[in-house]
Amino acid sequence: MKILVVGGGGREHAMVWKLAQSPRKPILFCAPGNAGIASLAVCVPIKADDVAALKAFVIREQIDLTVVGPEAPLALGIADEFRRAKLRIFGPTKAAARLEASKTFSKEVMARVSIPTATAKSFDKTSEALAYVDQHELPIVVKADGLAQGKGVVIATTREQASRAVIDAMDNAVFGEAGRQVLIEQFLDGEELTIMAFTDGRTVVPMLPAQDHKRVGDGDSGLNTGGMGAYAPAPIGTPELRLRVTREILEPVVQGLSRMGSPFQGVLYAGLMIVKGVPYVLEFNARMGDPETQVVLPLLKTELLDVIEAVVDHRLDQLAVEWHDHAAVCVVMTAGGYPGRYENGLPIRGLDFESNRQMIVFHAGTTEAAGRVVTAGGRVLGVTGIGKSLGEAKELAYRRVKQLGFDRCHYRTDIADRALRASR
Ligand code: AMP
Ligand code: GLY
Repeated sequence: MKILVVGGGGREHAMVWKLAQSPRKPILFCAPGNAGIASLAVCVPIKADDVAALKAFVIREQIDLTVVGPEAPLALGIADEFRRAKLRIFGPTKAAARLEASKTFSKEVMARVSIPTATAKSFDKTSEALAYVDQHELPIVVKADGLAQGKGVVIATTREQASRAVIDAMDNAVFGEAGRQVLIEQFLDGEELTIMAFTDGRTVVPMLPAQDHKRVGDGDSGLNTGGMGAYAPAPIGTPELRLRVTREILEPVVQGLSRMGSPFQGVLYAGLMIVKGVPYVLEFNARMGDPETQVVLPLLKTELLDVIEAVVDHRLDQLAVEWHDHAAVCVVMTAGGYPGRYENGLPIRGLDFESNRQMIVFHAGTTEAAGRVVTAGGRVLGVTGIGKSLGEAKELAYRRVKQLGFDRCHYRTDIADRALRASR
């Protein structure tokens, strides 16, 4: 069986790594992949959002199954295009992926099926957005409507900050088209939790709850990033909460989209804020999270390929999805300056140290140049430790992190600490 994974970050490395463990021994391709993925799959130099070139490749190479990692190709309609050509693909259609690609649409769906979320208003005129900021209580959250790689959100504690965020997005176009429309949202104070689920449009199978660390610095300081680390299972995602999120959030959304004529097939990601025990939706994504995938997939006991095929063939109700009774912690190592400007091409040290089943180095932004692995992105590596407890998993992850390095490398030192403190 030939499988193409689309993407080239830490999430895709984790997906390829998991698929490579299948006893069915699939032949793996990845577009565009990275220096780490290259040890497990044939990397194909096609950009993840070049839908036409991906389709041509899949037809030419007779690929049996395409698995989409990132949001961009989904938002461009790769799943629609492939299904029209009778090519098997794991991922939602363009219409269903709007749940992520348009925050305004996502709020409409949530309102339709009565899902608790922050109250929000969307604006396409700067003057109206600024007038709203003036009246609203603080803090206030300003979000670009479209895709901005996790960086399109500003939590403003002053009106000046909020106004600047509005002007930057709408007039200065710092997020390009994605920020022409903004959403201004009530601030929710609580604890964040990610619950992703596999769904074939009918059955919803939640994964283990994970917690991401969005801010660049220790103690949740500094700017928002794509994600600086994660751990799973997150203790606040108790079995009761997971069931509640499945029944009251994930299933209603999946059913609602089906009723609207846009059934969702793939991974539905709910970014939640738990406020006094009640889950509120901050955002939906139409794909697996990064870095959440790097902690959740290593704990999946059922073969990933079996799950993916059950989704694609609409028979997820017939599969029991099981998890290992372990914990995982992933620490993301970034280029100095990220999420702002940073340098590429820096040689990475320590990759040849032993990795084993308990310490896995997932590559995110890496490439090979003149026989060396060098940095090629803001998030460079995601180092996952797997242990019997979160404490052990954290210990293992940082042990491996300390063996790695590159100039101006940065990482947070407090991944999973919130959960570890709470359990003491
Ligand atoms: P989003 O891309 O919408 O998930 O937002 C990115 C991050 O901003 C979230 O993970 C939260 O940390 C924070 N955030 C977003 N919306 C809110 C909100 N309404 N209240 C508090 N924090 C928020
Ligand atoms: N870790 C957040 C995301 O993947 O959107």
